[in-house]
Amino acid sequence: MQKKVIVKEATFDDVVKVNKTILEFDTSYNKEYFKERCGDKKRLIIVSYLQVHIKELPIGYIVAYDRFGKGSFYCWMAAVDPKYRGKGALKAMIKYLETWAKKKGYRQLRIKTRNRRREMLNYLVKYGYNFVDVIKKEDILENRILLQKEI
Ligand SMILES: CC(C)(COP(=O)(O)OP(=O)(O)OC[C@H]1O[C@@H](n2cnc3c(N)ncnc32)[C@H](O)[C@@H]1OP(=O)(O)O)[C@@H](O)C(=O)NCCC(=O)NCCS
Repeated sequence: MQKKVIVKEATFDDVVKVNKTILEFDTSYNKEYFKERCGDKKRLIIVSYLQVHIKELPIGYIVAYDRFGKGSFYCWMAAVDPKYRGKGALKAMIKYLETWAKKKGYRQLRIKTRNRRREMLNYLVKYGYNFVDVIKKEDILENRILLQKEI
């Protein structure tokens, strides 16, 4: 059976659905939570789907918005359903995000992650992001790490 990951712009409803599968995050986040955080800033909501025959199963999401201004676009939340990890969904979504942001005139992508998020850190180091800042927390695994890539 041929399975393909595709990426589309989506709604907060789709994001909330996928977020219920992400056990590393709070699975009770609702639409208002995501909406409020983005405010009236320019935003991009993307969902990745696993295409099986004519069905499209939502498996991952990214919520990104213009948080810092000055030509940078910020990837706030990124996650993939644990059952479908390692199939390139994150790579496909960030590729979409980078292309979209560049087309809109942004020059940098920024992402904040934590020491605990090793898969994400691996991705960011492997695919050209640079470390910009570290916000220390009591638990070193919770340190917030800001990374940035020129696009
Ligand atoms: C991080 C996360 C989104 C990766 O999603 P994914 O769809 O499995 O990732 P992909 O298959 O697209 O892999 C992308 C890259 O991530 C890294 N990666 C993914 N899984 C990995 C693993 N188990 N071990 C090491 N590196 C890993 C690799 O660099 C990989 O690129 P490569 O295959 O060319 O080496 C997913 O693990 C997740 O949702 N984790 C929990 C939530 C989270 O940590 N979000 C990030 C918060 S900022």
